[in-house]
Amino acid sequence: MTAARHRRRPLVSGNWKMHHDHLQSIRTIQDLGLRLTAADVGPLDVSVHPPFTDLRSVQTVLEDRAIPVALGAQHCYSEDEGPFTGEVAPPMLARLGVSYVIVGHSERRQFFAMTDEQVAATLRAVLRHGMTPIVCVGETEEEREMGETEARLTAQATAALKGLPEEQTAALVLAYEPIWAIGTGATATGEDAESACAHIRGVVAELAGADAAQAVRIQYGGSVRPENTAELMGQRDVDGLLVGGASLDAAVLAAIIREAGPAGR
Ligand code: PGA
Repeated sequence: MTAARHRRRPLVSGNWKMHHDHLQSIRTIQDLGLRLTAADVGPLDVSVHPPFTDLRSVQTVLEDRAIPVALGAQHCYSEDEGPFTGEVAPPMLARLGVSYVIVGHSERRQFFAMTDEQVAATLRAVLRHGMTPIVCVGETEEEREMGETEARLTAQATAALKGLPEEQTAALVLAYEPIWAIGTGATATGEDAESACAHIRGVVAELAGADAAQAVRIQYGGSVRPENTAELMGQRDVDGLLVGGASLDAAVLAAIIREAGPAGR
């Protein structure tokens, strides 16, 4: 563990995807608030990313109970307003107190044809409105088998970040999410997660310089559970976790947060 690692504060994010209506989300966040102590969240940042329809409710609970968890969104559009039926604009999220927005999750890329260009435009829109994008990259199983993991990560990270000023690059979050590990129960080994995250950090160094690369936080995502949290968080270049299924249950998410803090030091 290098000294540089200590400067990066880990971020554990719960992505609830299309689960939990606003009543279920209220219950879940209240439950999480009761379980988390100041000591649990002392060493790291935590965010939850409920569906759009729940954001206002969850924000109210977080504020009323002073729960030390940041509000996150799962997606947004790249324009500030306009005739884009069904989309949600970044300033609307900023107004709701959203701090983090997931951009380019593989499910958006795969099921909703989100392109690299849209990912690049959206992350810039999120930054413009003072929020932090969590930009997702990751290879498919076929790409991994063909030995194309690093080329894929380089291509996605470059398309997203090319031309972004150093300070903006340093302040954002990247998430390495191997597609074969998402929702499958198959987690990357600590070694695989480390090698991919270190590679992504190298790409950031090429694009924005060594300082930005040292500062940028890189999460791992894909079948994270309490049992594999310590191994993943023990890796030098893994600065946090993007948790899907396991984050739906407050007790399980709290267990992950408690494991992640000490392991990530
Ligand atoms: P999972 O999802 O934890 O359910 O595998 C991870 C993600 O898609 O962020």
